[in-house]
Amino acid sequence: MLVLDAVDAGYDSSQVLSGMTLSVGAHEVVSLIGRNGMGKSTTVRTIMGLLPARRGRILLDGRDLAGLAPNRIARMGIGLVPEGRRIFGSLSVEENLLATARAPSTSASGWSIDRVHALFPRLRERRTQSARTLSGGEQQMLAIARALMTNPRLLVLDEATEGLAPLIRGEIWACLQMLKDEGQTILVIDKNLDEMAMLVDRHHIVEKGRVVWQGTPQELDARPEVAQRFLGV
Ligand SMILES: Nc1ncnc2c1ncn2[C@@H]1O[C@H](COP(=O)(O)OP(=O)(O)OP(=O)(O)O)[C@@H](O)[C@H]1O
Ligand SMILES: [Mg+2]
Repeated sequence: MLVLDAVDAGYDSSQVLSGMTLSVGAHEVVSLIGRNGMGKSTTVRTIMGLLPARRGRILLDGRDLAGLAPNRIARMGIGLVPEGRRIFGSLSVEENLLATARAPSTSASGWSIDRVHALFPRLRERRTQSARTLSGGEQQMLAIARALMTNPRLLVLDEATEGLAPLIRGEIWACLQMLKDEGQTILVIDKNLDEMAMLVDRHHIVEKGRVVWQGTPQELDARPEVAQRFLGV
């Protein structure tokens, strides 16, 4: 579904991604893991068209994304849950959901407010409340729900469990597992390796802007020296 082929990207004079190569197949759950500042969020920004790829290609279902505006890329079917959530604090929970809602590309199984409420009952209870008054966990649920309302073919989550208590993280993982069981394709960035092991089909370790190792969570478990060297765990 998504292919990055030898992508370079960065900010002004600093190059962050250097030969980033990655692919995500339909219905797959793929991770980017790695230490702070290695280029995971920069990869996401480049996929979304917020940063230009200076070299290499990014393909979504075979279509080159080069030069397309971020809203265009989002409309092609990539739903982003950005680092730091970025919900609209002054809007109500319901307004946040409606602000990004988009009809599904196929008529089958589209996301609606009702379906999002079934997934996150707490968003129903708080639907008229302004988003800034939600707890951190509820804000994260809203950020995920908002991305789902765009009916993405690929859901991208950048540190969706950051700063949340273990119980709330568990709720987020359970929700992602449900989405996976329905066939949702997911690219997930997270630091909680143990918690994501059930969900992820294939890890990618990012080091200095490129993938230096990939394999299943089980394969990573069997290679403690890899985790030690690239993740410091
Ligand atoms: N807007 C920016 N302008 C300049 N440099 C930036 C900018 N954003 C990130 N960088 C730099 O790019 C590098 C990669 O950052 P990035 O945010 O992609 O890392 P990351 O892997 O997501 O890290 P973390 O795990 O901390 O979220 C870092 O050296 C960072 O300082
Ligand atoms: Mg990041």
